[in-house]
Amino acid sequence: KIDQKVNALLKKMTIEEKIGQLNQYTGDNQATGPITINPNKETEIKQGLIGSMLNVLGTKYTRQYQELAMQSRLKIPLLFGQDVVHGYKTTFPIPLAEAASWDLEAMELSARIAAVEASASGIHWTFAPMVDISRDPRWGRVMEGAGEDTYLGSKIAYARVKGFQGMLGDVNSVMACVKHFAAYGAAVGGRDYNSVDMSERMLWETYLPPFKSALDAGAATFMNSFNDLNGIPATANKYLQRDILKGKWNFQGFVVSDWGSIGEMVAHGYVKDNKEAALAAITAGSDMDMESNAYRYHLAELVKENKVPIALIDDAVKRILRKKFKLGLFDDPYKYCDPEREQAALNNPEHRKAAREIAAKSIVLLKNENTILPLSKEIKTVAFIGPMVKEHKENMGFWAVELPGLDYEKQVVSQWEGLKNKVGSNTKLLYAKGCETTGDSKEGFAEAIAIANQADVVILSIGENWNMSGEAKSRSNIHLPGVQEELVKAIQATGKPVVVLINAGRPLVFNEIANTVPAILYTWWLGTEAGNAIADVLFGDYNPSGKLPMTFPREEGQIPVYYNHFSTGRPAPDENATNYVSAYIDLKNSPRFTFGHGLSYTTFDYSELKLSKSKIKSNEKIEVSVAITNTGKYEGTEIVQLYLRDKVGSIIRPIIELKDFQKVHLKVGETKTIQFIIDNQKLSFYNNKLEFGSEPGDFDLMIGSSSSDIRLKDSFELL
Ligand code: IFM
Repeated sequence: KIDQKVNALLKKMTIEEKIGQLNQYTGDNQATGPITINPNKETEIKQGLIGSMLNVLGTKYTRQYQELAMQSRLKIPLLFGQDVVHGYKTTFPIPLAEAASWDLEAMELSARIAAVEASASGIHWTFAPMVDISRDPRWGRVMEGAGEDTYLGSKIAYARVKGFQGMLGDVNSVMACVKHFAAYGAAVGGRDYNSVDMSERMLWETYLPPFKSALDAGAATFMNSFNDLNGIPATANKYLQRDILKGKWNFQGFVVSDWGSIGEMVAHGYVKDNKEAALAAITAGSDMDMESNAYRYHLAELVKENKVPIALIDDAVKRILRKKFKLGLFDDPYKYCDPEREQAALNNPEHRKAAREIAAKSIVLLKNENTILPLSKEIKTVAFIGPMVKEHKENMGFWAVELPGLDYEKQVVSQWEGLKNKVGSNTKLLYAKGCETTGDSKEGFAEAIAIANQADVVILSIGENWNMSGEAKSRSNIHLPGVQEELVKAIQATGKPVVVLINAGRPLVFNEIANTVPAILYTWWLGTEAGNAIADVLFGDYNPSGKLPMTFPREEGQIPVYYNHFSTGRPAPDENATNYVSAYIDLKNSPRFTFGHGLSYTTFDYSELKLSKSKIKSNEKIEVSVAITNTGKYEGTEIVQLYLRDKVGSIIRPIIELKDFQKVHLKVGETKTIQFIIDNQKLSFYNNKLEFGSEPGDFDLMIGSSSSDIRLKDSFELL
């Protein structure tokens, strides 16, 4: 039915109106790229020359633009897109932090709530989820993804798309845009927008599966990426967009370029000007031009010159119009513009409750020697020190939506406020900033040491500023910035028990702190409810259960460092071996914290690993069961991880690979037996001919609390 409507409309459209549907301009809110001024924007909308806008926030503002579109000849509504990456007004933890929860339901819920708020505010389309796998914490955009692992990343991609889209067409849903297609996370040196050179096998095995998973969840749109892949910019990459995405995967939605990525192919040295860029992009399957003005000014001419067949334009236009029909915009262009719904959705206390819960689930307890944590609620004096303690916006993270007029002090619970909300009147709270996050001034150290000396425990909150991880925020040095490590040392010298909170958008390097501080919580950037969630964890109202979705290096020199690597022909037999083995002579091979690591206030015992079979054929399955017991003093949740190793392959296989996981909640003393299924899919990989399948042979099966804390092992044979 939609196709009939689309075809009927297409027949009425002039070439200019068709091309109009392929243009996207930015509005005046939060700029998310280098702005080209389009002074005639409003007139062009009235002429039907613009199909979509981004960075237009709120029902008032989106309505104004939509009213202009309704003055155009064919009254084709505008589509409003926005980076609703980790919440809209209610800001959830950054995606990398949420990934640390390994809680697919919670992530689906946070995307759902983001969709409810954004759609109530006039937005039809979010540029999320970002599903780029990355093994390089120097790359600032790791904060926006799900980390380094393809299996976990694929599950999360699926959950997030489901959450955003709900039932597409319902008034409280937005279209997802899966990005960045493809391999952006492998930018050389972790430098943003940089080149990517990778084997086909690596592309298919590690980088593409989360995209496929998002597509399987029904993702309506894709965004291509800034990088070139093996010498061809992704935006003009026919292999990626036409052969794989629209061909092999039969994607029926549309592809939007990244901001200016069509025009940037001139700087890449792939085309000589914007006109050639437009030709290359449309030919390769990029349907909508975000902010390059290449389609706007050159496509019509290219059609006239017979360089671009009109069928290509028609196909792109149809893909976009179908979505506008699906969203119900032709029935009511103001469907998503209801100020009353906006008011209610943006101030819904249930959303904040969910944000607090997932923020607590995202926190990772890296270390807890001498069981310093959780803190007793009877504690007399706490010194809360550090540049992050009283901050509001710093908790929000790079892609937090900057709603006009947002008062961060009212909207965000600072860590100080969270602690104050938690402790009773018998606990005295002392505060000192100590230092800034950046810069080299130690002026505040003396005051910080003085209050530490008066306290029973010191909590230090340090890390990166909100704008130090994100787009164009690559860092070559990912140590804690400024003099923060020195502040920690100075406070430790007081001899007081110290708990460190690290707030950041990426894995940071903090080797010395990791070695000497007894208790460390990785608190990422947790969003509007950061302060309350951190206090919940500090005082044991939530027992931490997060596990790292990305490896934490000891030093930058180890990067890329990731858990599922190959063995090499000379694997180091132990951490100290250097003699003609694959190792550094000045640093251990192992990272500081491994993928999947995260402690709890309680302890878990793993037992009774059972496999239903020790030999299977490729059409058979193995049922795996394992018993988990809470042997500690607190109720808690464990994320049980199942890893495999394919011992011999026609393509060598990683020494360990995540293939499944389950979250288990256990009361004190409780035991639960959980099941996993091993099927042929879990044993398969891409061979040299890029065929996906398994090979007979022996497999190790490992069940653990992290990729380096394997508790139980067994093996089986594929016949
Ligand atoms: O969606 C983003 C993309 O991820 C990076 N460049 C800008 C786009 C729109 O804001």
